[in-house]
Amino acid sequence: MNSNHPRHILVTGGAGFIGSHACNALLAAGHTVRCMDNLATSKQDNIAHLEGLPEFEFVEGDIRNAADCARAVDGVEGVVHLAALGSVPRSIKDPLATHATNLTGFLHMLEAARFEGVKRFVYASSSSVYGDSKELPKREPNIGLPLSPYAVTKVTNEVYAQLYTRLHGFDTIGLRFFNVFGERQDPEGPYAAAIPKFIRNFLKHQPPQIHGDGLQSRDFTYVGNVAQVIVQALDAADPRCVGEVFNVAFGARTTLVELVKALQSELATVDPAISEVGMKFIEERAGDIRDSLADISKAKELLGYAPSIDLKAGLRKAVPWYVKNWG
Ligand SMILES: NC(=O)c1ccc[n+]([C@@H]2O[C@H](COP(=O)([O-])OP(=O)(O)OC[C@H]3O[C@@H](n4cnc5c(N)ncnc54)[C@H](O)[C@@H]3O)[C@@H](O)[C@H]2O)c1
Repeated sequence: MNSNHPRHILVTGGAGFIGSHACNALLAAGHTVRCMDNLATSKQDNIAHLEGLPEFEFVEGDIRNAADCARAVDGVEGVVHLAALGSVPRSIKDPLATHATNLTGFLHMLEAARFEGVKRFVYASSSSVYGDSKELPKREPNIGLPLSPYAVTKVTNEVYAQLYTRLHGFDTIGLRFFNVFGERQDPEGPYAAAIPKFIRNFLKHQPPQIHGDGLQSRDFTYVGNVAQVIVQALDAADPRCVGEVFNVAFGARTTLVELVKALQSELATVDPAISEVGMKFIEERAGDIRDSLADISKAKELLGYAPSIDLKAGLRKAVPWYVKNWG
């Protein structure tokens, strides 16, 4: 897909955390955006700032329903498919629900987009595909055995997308996101991600709960970097990108204890009493990867990915939003 602006892009899961930032970035790049979401794990508040713009449209729809998918792709040239049920623990507790959305829903979208003649289908994969692989940094060809039903769905998404490229010549690009964080990531509920949950704990002066010894590591990635690469993946003209998957991370490794300390010092600038709050260690969690660090050279080379916001800078951007909305 070359970069003839403007284009009409569908973002599924566009009312979600990453989706709402993707909508912003696509609009800023000159595209028109249709956002489709069933609001299963998000609130329309996330896109309230976009509603009313002539270049933006919200349609309520469910990717488990083929007719909703067909309606959503009508007239679009590109798809950014982000709708999914996140969370490893959720998928262990209810694998059928995760399967229905992340796999059957994914296939509905792939089919709908192919029948519509969509020029490029960019979709969210995940670092969870590295499963039990011990290799560090993680490089795209070397995935391991999945550790959760969620990981199975993401591996299978990649297999399907790559099959569609080979079988139908359909243009797909997969992005393996690594621990994304930032404004609008939901801190509430049993399946909330670590960073928003920890921020919420600190703001309530409660110790954040860390599974295991806290020395497990992650490649935390600010959502602005992710939104940027989504736009780049839609535009990328190099034919070597088609049918490929790319690591999307910052490319640095941080333990959970280091993360909590960085968060604490950022939050203490707003509320000095937070520096007195400790951390609590609880039992390890099934399905979790021990260490995670991405080699991002492939996305840099082929997509022009250039993440500029590291963990500390990202926390500095995200924390004021949490203080305003959850403090
Ligand atoms: N946040 C991360 O760290 C991370 C890491 C790796 C991969 N991902 C992937 O990135 C994508 C976006 O994740 P996120 O963190 O923004 O999560 P999110 O829960 O905020 O966004 C997902 C969106 O999909 C919507 N959705 C769920 N089921 C749907 C359905 N049946 N039909 C239509 N919409 C539906 C939800 O309402 C939500 O708005 C997901 O595919 C996720 O698996 C996220």
